[in-house]
Amino acid sequence: MSLQNQASKVAPIAAERVDTVLGRIKVHTESSHLKIESRLAFLMSPDLSHGELGQLLSRFYTFLVPQEARLSAIDRLQQDPWLTELSYPARIRAPAILHDLITLGFAQREIADFSWCKDLPPLETPAQRLGFLYVIEGSSLGGRIISNHLSKTLGLQGTTAMHYFSIYGAETGPRWKAFTETLKRFVQAHPAQEKNLCNSAHESFERLTEWVAPR
Ligand code: HEM
Repeated sequence: MSLQNQASKVAPIAAERVDTVLGRIKVHTESSHLKIESRLAFLMSPDLSHGELGQLLSRFYTFLVPQEARLSAIDRLQQDPWLTELSYPARIRAPAILHDLITLGFAQREIADFSWCKDLPPLETPAQRLGFLYVIEGSSLGGRIISNHLSKTLGLQGTTAMHYFSIYGAETGPRWKAFTETLKRFVQAHPAQEKNLCNSAHESFERLTEWVAPR
């Protein structure tokens, strides 16, 4: 599930000692992943309610709508070759969450009155954009487990309330692989940017966590 089982007995591995960029970014963000996973533990509970799921999805929605709008604008106006390589518009998630919210009973007017996250992770450089996307794209891996659980616990299988957590469906593995290939190419082309990439992933996890699951 995560690296947590090793945490109590084995000294943490220094990210620099791992030999792939993916390994290093994973080590660098491990504690952030553990934090969000533990704050979202209720999602995996057998007692989860439709209301709790809807509440959580509304927090993801109000984070991703403004952030994806900024990324889309950058993609249109700045011609970031890395976003082009990723076919960025095909990775936008907010419409999937909107679908889920409506299925879960939210009214359009209620959604329009949401307050939007303002403390968004920076997207000024390609390294910052890819670091942010690492967090969001990677969440589709855990999403497979979450959506399995939701379909059993809330009886949502075959309904339209599961778009977000199973966003890529059977394409999850190939899409993650394609994303990680882009990440590798980016670091090969700009080795000095790896630190910024890892810092951005960490920062993105932290800001997302504070918005979707504050303590
Ligand atoms: C209850 C909540 C969560 C659970 C149970 C969970 C579980 C998992 C699991 C099992 C994996 C590894 C999957 C694999 O290697 O095939 C994974 C990977 C990942 N998850 Fe989560 N996750 C959760 C929430 C999140 C959230 C909310 C985010 C961020 C929005 C996130 C970001 C990531 C990332 C970036 C990876 C990729 C790590 C890597 O291999 O580099 N996860 N998660």
